[in-house]
Formats: sequence, C-alpha cells, structure tokens
Amino acid sequence: RGTMTVGELAKSLHKDASEVIKKLLFLGVMATINQELDLDAIQLLASDYGVEVELKIPVEEDKFENFEEKDDDEDLQERPPVVTIMGHVDHGKTTLLDAIRKTNVTEGEAGGITQHIGAYQVETNGKKITFLDTPGHEAFTSMRARGAQVTDITIIVVAADDGVMPQTIEAIAHAKAAKVPIIVAVNKIDKPDANPDHIKQELTAYELVPEEWGGDTIFCNISAKQRIGLENLLDMILLVSEVQEFKANPNKRARGTVIEAELDKGKGPVARVLIQHGTLKVGDSFVAGVHFGRVRAMVNDKGKKLKEAGPSTPVEITGMTEVPQAGDPFLVFEDERKARAIAEKRAITLRQSEMGANSRVTLDDLYKQI
Ligand code: GTP
Ligand code: MG
Repeated sequence: RGTMTVGELAKSLHKDASEVIKKLLFLGVMATINQELDLDAIQLLASDYGVEVELKIPVEEDKFENFEEKDDDEDLQERPPVVTIMGHVDHGKTTLLDAIRKTNVTEGEAGGITQHIGAYQVETNGKKITFLDTPGHEAFTSMRARGAQVTDITIIVVAADDGVMPQTIEAIAHAKAAKVPIIVAVNKIDKPDANPDHIKQELTAYELVPEEWGGDTIFCNISAKQRIGLENLLDMILLVSEVQEFKANPNKRARGTVIEAELDKGKGPVARVLIQHGTLKVGDSFVAGVHFGRVRAMVNDKGKKLKEAGPSTPVEITGMTEVPQAGDPFLVFEDERKARAIAEKRAITLRQSEMGANSRVTLDDLYKQI
C-alpha cells in the first residue's frame, strides 16, 4: 500500500536502521525496524534528510482507476482542470483563492451566496477551472495515501519577500510525488522588498527552472492582495490544461471523491464531492466509503440547485444516513439494492478487520468486493 518499513526506508536512504529509528524518535515517532511507516512519517523523515530523498517516496497508484472499466477514446470529453494551491504559511494561499473567486464571479452569480463546499469553479475565457480549497498538507497526504488523486495541477505560492521555506519544499515534494504539473506563483510582488528573481534562483535547486533559463516550469509573478497578474495565472492554468488534455467520460455513472463531509443540523449528513468521472444525477444511489446513500438534493458552489453534475464539478449532496470521510471514494451504482449491498459488505469487512489483530483493511480489499 505504498508504505515502507523502517528497515526498507533506511536502506533506500542509505542510512543505518538504528540511525533512522533514533531520528524518528527525535521526531516523535516510536518505531521498530519492521514497523510500517505511514506516509506522513516517511515524509517527515525524508524532509529531514533533504528533498532528494523525499522524491523517492513511492507514488500511490490511483486505486480508483484500477477497477474501472476503461473508456474508449471517443467517449472522452474535455473537462475542467482541478487545481490546488499550496505553499508556506502566510505566503498568500487564501488571499489568492479569494481574489480569484471574487474577480471571476460572473454577473448572474454575483447575487448568490457563495457556499463553502470545499471547492469552487470559475470561468475564464469561456473555460472552467475548478479550485479545491487548500486542503492543508495533512489532508493532501492522507487523501493521497488512500489512493484518491483529486488534483490535476498544483500552484505553489511563494512570497517574494520571504523565499523558499520548509512548507514550500514539502508542497513541491507532494506535487512531484503525485506527478502533477506545478505552476509557481511568486506572490507579494507589490512589496518593496520583493525579489522574484531570487525565488526563481532558489527554486532551481528543486528542479523548478523557468523557461527563460532553459527549464520548463511556469512562473507567474502575482500580487494576490492587489490582484496583479491573476489573469495571466489563469491563462497559464488553461495552457497547461490544453497540453495535458484532461478528459473524462461524462456519459456513465458518476465516480468521485468526498472532499469534505459533516453533519448539518437541518440537512443531516452532507457530503461535498468532486465528480471525476461520469455524471451524477438527483436520485442516484451511491456508496461513499462504507456508507450508502441516494442523492436527495444537489447544489453547486454558488448554492444553485442542480439536477445533474458532470466531471470536475464540485457539488454538495444530501441523502445519506451517515457522514462519510474526506477522501472516501464516491461511486454510483445501477440501483439502490446494489449500492446498499456493497456498502453493507464493506462495513462488515471494515468491522472484521478492526476486530482481527493487526490485519488492517485497505481500500484495495474494499474495492475487491464490487
Ligand atoms: P496560511 O493559511 O496561514 O498558511 O496562510 P496563507 O498562505 O493562506 O496566507 P494569507 O492569504 O492568509 O496571507 C497572509 C498575509 O499576507 C495576509 O496578511 C495577507 O493580506 C498578506 N498577503 C497575501 N498576499 C499578498 C500580496 O500579494 N501582497 C501583500 N503585500 N500582502 C499579501
Ligand atoms: Mg490560508
């Protein structure tokens, strides 16, 4: 499942296992040589040894795809890119997300109340872009560890007056491990002490080399606060999308990933789901994690009621009896009976594994039950 034991990790780092164990202890992780480490611990340790090591973290396969019937090329249609924004504390991620959202609210939507649904969509030059609210590195790590690859492009925000910091490096490692293209947004260029060229220089050490220096990384100078350079940044996102050709088949049952979920006093359990394949319709029966549900109502990020939602659309849905977890795969089945049966089977497997000593259930085991 993409994890490593302490011994394996030590070997791949060319270090003594005892040294690694000591270091882990120092980092607050108690471990023995045969113990499996989770992604967070591996990442923590690796970043302690420097980025080169960090990049050797085994890439989680997209388990989601593994049991899915392949689409024929002619069934695939262009879909909006899904973009996440990462970077060091205070470098301007939230300001950037807000600025993009506010600048790109179209006339008709302006009156609507923006819903917090963990993601939003903007339209620029007639094309849509889906932004995921900065999930935080932990959420990103745990989602990835569970095989949920939700993002297509990562924007790494670096403050031009501060430079490359630990979480910048971590974000680069995450994006590289997930094999998604990186766009660097050099932020706060309005500040008098901003030095964008210095950032470029620093990032070459992490193999992010701008085109004008012979590399292939896109750098955008921006000020999220003063809203400078945002159009250009959006254009660059569309450019990368054109090259990558993000596609999905909208004409089948929906699959996606739970981005957030909670118990709402009035509505009951609500799940914010990113649709990744197919089209979700009101009335569809689905399984989210180990829970069954039936789409009772569905709204988009502008609070607008939807009857259906296609690939790359973030939606908030109601119609479950229990609250699923962020990162849970979301799958629609042909009818309620089938969805219910699968959810029950999964719940039993999960319970059995919780009772059995040490036998951890993996998503793989759950998927096998389809
Ligand atoms: P965390 O969520 O804490 O990791 O921070 P963040 O990356 O979301 O940063 P945030 O957007 O909260 O911005 C941090 C501070 O930088 C705030 O005071 C912003 O007003 C300021 N800031 C963000 N962008 C710019 C910019 O382009 N120029 C200037 N001068 N200040 C900015
Ligand atoms: Mg923030």
